Amino acid sequence: MEQPVVLITGAGGNLGRAVVEELAPKGARLVCVDRNQETVAALVASLPSGPDVLGVEVDLTDMTSCLCAAQKAHDRFGRIDALVNTVGGFKMGPVDAPGIDQWDALMMLNARTAYSISAAVLPSMQQRQHGRIIHIAASPGLKAGGRQAAYGASKAAVIRLTEAIAAENRIHRITANCILPGTIDTPENRAAMPDADTGSWVPPSAIARLIAFLVSEHASAVTGAAIAAGGF
Ligand SMILES: NC(=O)c1ccc[n+]([C@@H]2O[C@H](COP(=O)([O-])OP(=O)(O)OC[C@H]3O[C@@H](n4cnc5c(N)ncnc54)[C@H](OP(=O)(O)O)[C@@H]3O)[C@@H](O)[C@H]2O)c1
Repeated sequence: MEQPVVLITGAGGNLGRAVVEELAPKGARLVCVDRNQETVAALVASLPSGPDVLGVEVDLTDMTSCLCAAQKAHDRFGRIDALVNTVGGFKMGPVDAPGIDQWDALMMLNARTAYSISAAVLPSMQQRQHGRIIHIAASPGLKAGGRQAAYGASKAAVIRLTEAIAAENRIHRITANCILPGTIDTPENRAAMPDADTGSWVPPSAIARLIAFLVSEHASAVTGAAIAAGGF
């Protein structure tokens, strides 16, 4: 794929930025999406390849805004080859009455966002009979531990969404896969777990390389998968 057009959501976050740094030197044309305008502007300004990078401020919980972002990507580059959706987050809490708010918040942050940006980019990919969709789930989406009801259920939704997209779009030659990272080595995790053994954590760059593979033609046979990237 020459100069693939890749729409990266959460591009200003830990993993999103690593994906940008992995794909930009390889000649990809990037649509960098995040919800904060300053984050997007700073990210785009930090990249050398001006004309090949488009920054778009979007709240992914809003379907109309996602459609608008896909249209902007299309207007600029004429197509979208891949969606790399890194938007998501983590919170723990027991199943109790106040926890209903956390349930709603994580369903919004992890599940609704993945659905809306997928729905926004799919028509363009279906028209071209080509596309790659990569979401980020997590292992509690397969089996939750205690205090992981909302997180596990919202990431399970991402896995099921990925499978459904893969099944529906096989005829359109669009692949859809999700990655289940272990603990990612981020400043936030280091601050939250100062005594943890970080040796088994996964560097964002390692997941970014896996994503680059899934975006590439080499991964054309991989679809509907939930790929564990748990580190050592
Ligand atoms: N970190 C880990 O250890 C870990 C482990 C397993 C799975 N994961 C998953 O990996 C993915 C990336 O994690 P990360 O550590 O890179 O997260 P991150 O640093 O928090 O990055 C997420 C980015 O998405 C943005 N965002 C949040 N909600 C949005 C919305 N509605 N619309 C548009 N942008 C939005 C955030 O903006 P704000 O900064 O404004 O919120 C942030 O820039 C997530 O899906 C996470 O659940 C992470």
